[in-house]
Formats: sequence, structure tokens, C-alpha cells
Amino acid sequence: MRFVDLIEKKKQGHHLSKEEIDYWIDGFVKGDIPDYQVSALCMAICFQGMSDEEQFCLTEAMLHSGKIIDLSPIHTPICDKHSTGGVGDKTSLALAPMVAACGLCVAKMSGRGLGHTGGTLDKLESIHGFQINKSEDDFMRQVQDIGLAIVSQSDTLVPADRLLYALRDVSATVDSIPLIASSIMSKKLAMGADTILLDVKYGNGAFMNTSEKARKLAQAMLDIAKRFHKKACAMITNMNQPLGNAVGNALEVKEAIETLQGKGSKDFTQLCLEAGSLLLTKTHLSQDREDGIHKLKQVIENGKALEKFLAMVAYQGGDVLQITDPNRLPKANMQIELLSTKNGFVQDVCAHTIGVSAMKLGAGRSQKHDHIQHETGIVLKKKQGDFVQKGEALAVIHTNQALEEQIRNELFNAFTIGDAMPQIQPLIEEVML
Ligand code: URA
Repeated sequence: MRFVDLIEKKKQGHHLSKEEIDYWIDGFVKGDIPDYQVSALCMAICFQGMSDEEQFCLTEAMLHSGKIIDLSPIHTPICDKHSTGGVGDKTSLALAPMVAACGLCVAKMSGRGLGHTGGTLDKLESIHGFQINKSEDDFMRQVQDIGLAIVSQSDTLVPADRLLYALRDVSATVDSIPLIASSIMSKKLAMGADTILLDVKYGNGAFMNTSEKARKLAQAMLDIAKRFHKKACAMITNMNQPLGNAVGNALEVKEAIETLQGKGSKDFTQLCLEAGSLLLTKTHLSQDREDGIHKLKQVIENGKALEKFLAMVAYQGGDVLQITDPNRLPKANMQIELLSTKNGFVQDVCAHTIGVSAMKLGAGRSQKHDHIQHETGIVLKKKQGDFVQKGEALAVIHTNQALEEQIRNELFNAFTIGDAMPQIQPLIEEVML
């Protein structure tokens, strides 16, 4: 087989066979096929797409490029959850303990944030001492003991994706639905969970800018899950404004704790309850959506959800006192209010701008190896549809140094204020089962 023939074939819009896809992934991981040829193939895929069969074969080839975790010794239903990423997306921090408190096991490997989106690991690391690196044995033991673990992605899982993603990142070939779907699903399948929830976000703060594209990506991932005989469901959710109120690592941990105490923001709580109920229903731990929501509200009210989070923090070496008293979480040197200059209804809070501003304050990375300041970020005081008065705070900026005028202006411009009540966009646009 000559790799150049595969590139030509895809360029002409033909389908690659299983043997050709295996040859590609195997040869690439071994270093036999050079980066420039793989980049060319990825670009051809961006233009020509892939059939369902090709997407399945690519996912399978990537999955088998590394280790696959065997969670079968754990007899409780095990779930995993994936979000395509957004601004203020701390869902895993609250959702995982909530469903774990209802009897589901959560075995999750997460990533770090890059650009305007945050990463679960960075958020967890704002808890003093929290260990994200665990051996596979320790990870399994923790899931068995307390039913919940969130750790860093192991290097032994899906090495093909790590290599391919790094190449796609620098060759403008990230935004191809088949490549994204196989990348995400190979990692989820390698984790060995039997039920997978996919939160596919759309909007200016998300990877997919329209709900149509998000739906296509969700469908591609659901189709792959089906071919692998895994239970999966997807939510198409709005990321035109940040999720919840807090954006920034320690600030988001605090909001997750408040949510576990039943004091969370309305939209974030709604997302956790709907997502949790989907997982409980899929795994037959609840009868239907209402029953699932009822069970989740119960574990919030009786404190069991927060206890689960505490158990995870303790197991992973984190300072539990920061959870029982979130005022002990890292705090930025300054808290500066961003005041409205007029009366009116908030029409929009641009998630992308808020995410980029939070990154510039130190809460995120523009380059992979940037150091982050866990305590910095933004807390929204007003969201779409809220009325604001002149002189009232739109947001509070948590910063370690004097606020640059440019960041203040950008943040200010993230809020659009108008006279009329705007049409509120639904947070959850669709659930795909
Ligand atoms: N996230 C992934 O894990 N893979 C992609 O290709 C894109 C986003």
C-alpha cells in the first residue's frame, strides 16, 4: 500500500477501506508515515468527509492504538460524560458527585483547558493538594471504593489521538466532524464505561458555532457508540452565554459546591439535573426524567451529593476544608466591579469574549504550557434577560494585577443592553437518545 494513493483516493471523494485506515493509524503511530502526508489526508477528509463505516473503522483503529481500560470487575453501572467544552462549564464537578450519590459509578478522565475554554483538571487543581495523576490500579480502586474518580487522561490510552490531534491543531484540520467524532469517541470507549453522556455545545463560546453542526457531531458520535454496543445519549446545549455565573477555576469550584448544596445558579442547576436524570434513566436507576430529577434533588437536599464530592477530594489528596468552607479556596488580590452605564435588559453576554477575557486575567492558557492563576476569573452578576440599572454591577472581575483598560472594555462590550426584554434562548435545545 502507498499512502499517497490513500490521499488521492480521499481527495477524489472515495471511501477508505478498513485495511487502509488501519494502515494509516498503525503506520502513523509507528512513525512510518510522515506528518506531512497525514496532514494532507486530514485536509482531504475535511473537504470530502467520511462515511459511517469509515468513521467506525477510524475510531476502532485509534481505540486499539493503546490500552483499553477494563472496568468489568466493577459490577455497578459505570458512566462517563463528555462535554465539547465551553465557558464556565463546570458540569463534571457537580454532575459526577450527584449521580454517584444516586448509585451510579463515574469513572472519568478529563483534560486541561486551552484558549477561551476551561478544563476540568485545572478547576480541580485549584483545590490545594488535589492529585489528578493516578495509576490505573489506583483509579480502579477509587471507583470501586467510592464510585467516583476524575483523573488526568493516561498517556497509554489512544496514543494515536494525541499524535493526530497535535497535527490537526497546526494544520487547520480540527474542524471536521468525522475527525472530531472519532477522536472523542475513541477516548471515551478506551475508558470502558458502559453509558456515555455527550454534552455537545453550540454558540460563540463553543467549538461548533451552530446547533445544526452540533447536532451532526452528536449524531456521528451516537452512531459510533451504537456500533460499539455502548449506551449513549447526547444533549445539544447553548453556549452563546457562559454556563452558570462563575468563569475561572477556583470560582467555578465554588459554584459547583454551591450547586451541590442546592444554592447554584438556575441554568447550571438545570443542566446538571437534566444531564443527571438522563444518565440515571439510561442506566435504569430511575424510571423516567421526573423520577431522575426527583432522586437528584433528594441527594442535594440530604447532603449526599456534597458528601460524594468531599469523598473524592479526600481520596485524591485535596484539602477538604476548602470544600466545607469555600472561602478558603484561592482568592485573587482584587475584586473589581464592572458597572452598567445604563438601565435596560441584558440582551446577550458573549461567552467567547468572557472566556478570552478570563484567559487574559490568568484563568486560562493561550499556549499549552502557560501557567495559570487558579484564583482569577469573572463572576457574572447579570445574564440574558436580567434587568440592570445604571451603576449596578454586571460582573465582578477577580484579578491579581491592576485591570488593563483593554480587558475592561472587552468585558464591558461582552454585555449588550437594550430596552426590550430579549427572547431567551433555551439552554437545552435537544436531547438525542
Ligand atoms: N476534542 C477532542 O477530543 N477531539 C477533537 O478532535 C476535538 C475536540
